Amino acid sequence: MTSNANSERLLDRIRTRKARIGVIGLGYVGLPLAVEFARRGFDVSGFDVDESKTSQINAGTSYIPDVPQAELNEVVKAGRLRGTSKMADLAGMDVVDICVPTPLRKTKDPDLSYVVKAVEAVAETLKAGQLIILESTTYPGTTDEVVQPMLESKGLKGDVDFFLAFSPERVDPGNPTFNTRNIPKIVGGMGATSTEAAALLYGAIVSTVIKVSSTRVAEMVKLLENTFRAVNIGMVNELALMCHKMDIDVWEVIDAAKTKPFGFMPFYPGPGLGGHCIPIDPYYLSWKARQNGFECRFIELAGHVNSAMPDYVVERVADALNTVRKSINGSRIHLLGVAYKRDVNDMRESPALDVIELLEKRGAKITYTDPYVPVLRHAGRNLTSIDLDKAVTARPDCAVICTDHAVFTYDGLVSSGVLIVDTRNALKDQQADTIFRL
Ligand SMILES: NC(=O)c1ccc[n+]([C@@H]2O[C@H](COP(=O)([O-])OP(=O)(O)OC[C@H]3O[C@@H](n4cnc5c(N)ncnc54)[C@H](O)[C@@H]3O)[C@@H](O)[C@H]2O)c1
Repeated sequence: MTSNANSERLLDRIRTRKARIGVIGLGYVGLPLAVEFARRGFDVSGFDVDESKTSQINAGTSYIPDVPQAELNEVVKAGRLRGTSKMADLAGMDVVDICVPTPLRKTKDPDLSYVVKAVEAVAETLKAGQLIILESTTYPGTTDEVVQPMLESKGLKGDVDFFLAFSPERVDPGNPTFNTRNIPKIVGGMGATSTEAAALLYGAIVSTVIKVSSTRVAEMVKLLENTFRAVNIGMVNELALMCHKMDIDVWEVIDAAKTKPFGFMPFYPGPGLGGHCIPIDPYYLSWKARQNGFECRFIELAGHVNSAMPDYVVERVADALNTVRKSINGSRIHLLGVAYKRDVNDMRESPALDVIELLEKRGAKITYTDPYVPVLRHAGRNLTSIDLDKAVTARPDCAVICTDHAVFTYDGLVSSGVLIVDTRNALKDQQADTIFRL
């Protein structure tokens, strides 16, 4: 590692926790990270263009379920964390961690506009000795092809004057076991000094840091992880369709297969992919691969299977209604859980939205229960979550378990005799003619 006065000062400030840390983008990724740095004694400024978020932070109010109210409140009160929309304050930071969204365009091409905007703000105030880290999930090459030239355009040189690294965020919202503190962190810098500085920084807040040889490797690690999930979920979703045709219970098959102590990892079918990662990230990879003349067939195939799952759910609803000589048209259909996965309030890319749209297109009247999503904006109007007991008393023609939140109890629903389409095997231990599994 080459060292110079800039790196020595930075490393020293990180070691002594005097480094001032700026986190840009205070969402599901940025807020837990900012709180963790503050808890470990760093002085943290959270930057977000959304002033409702910065003012909630300054009031000590957490809007991310994984960030306990008390933890946020404590660091805000102690003066170690504040929210701001004043990007000029980036000038005073020793470290800037970028955690802004990386969505897809309608064409399924990467939309780097948020990253570019954030990096523009960083470039505007860039100073010698700063460490800039990109955490947003993106295609291999983003850090060295997009971020580095923007930062160097002001005349400072990367890995000498300032330091630049990519470190993918691996947080799994709603996971009770793994969080920012105990998920190993990957870091890849544009050079040895950048890697060293980023590794030292994360070493202060996470239990394990893994250094890789470049920003591209670090970017690719994240895409491998998420593509692995998307492809395996695609495979098991196809298996669910196949098992249905063959009259085999796919859930029983998976439960038995997972008893193998090696070489198998269970994935489960469901109503479709959701969230800001699995439905999106593989397309970042396939887009970049295409630029290099390579077609990612697994990604495309898994995408086809996974995106057809909401249609399959609707088909199962039609099957269920058919047993009582009803059609979707005119039926009252109640969804349990609309967030994209269990125990979170995140609606991004939720397959429940597709299920609702497809059912409404066929003439169904939709209601839902989701304690995490009190109001759902859909097709230009607001739907409001209703209490599950009330929903059961109103006897819908069919109930669809889209997301199996842990707080749901299903006994009343099952004993009511209402038709149920269970897309999550939430009713694993219940047997009734009224239950239709995926
Ligand atoms: N949500 C997850 O589970 C998860 C997990 C791992 C990685 N990631 C990745 O992390 C990144 C962030 O995801 P997220 O879920 O936290 O997103 P999010 O939408 O919850 O939060 C992003 C925040 O960035 C803010 N923002 C946007 N542009 C900005 C700008 N120019 N300056 C300042 N703030 C700006 C937004 O207002 C928002 O508050 C994405 O690349 C995502 O793929 C997400």
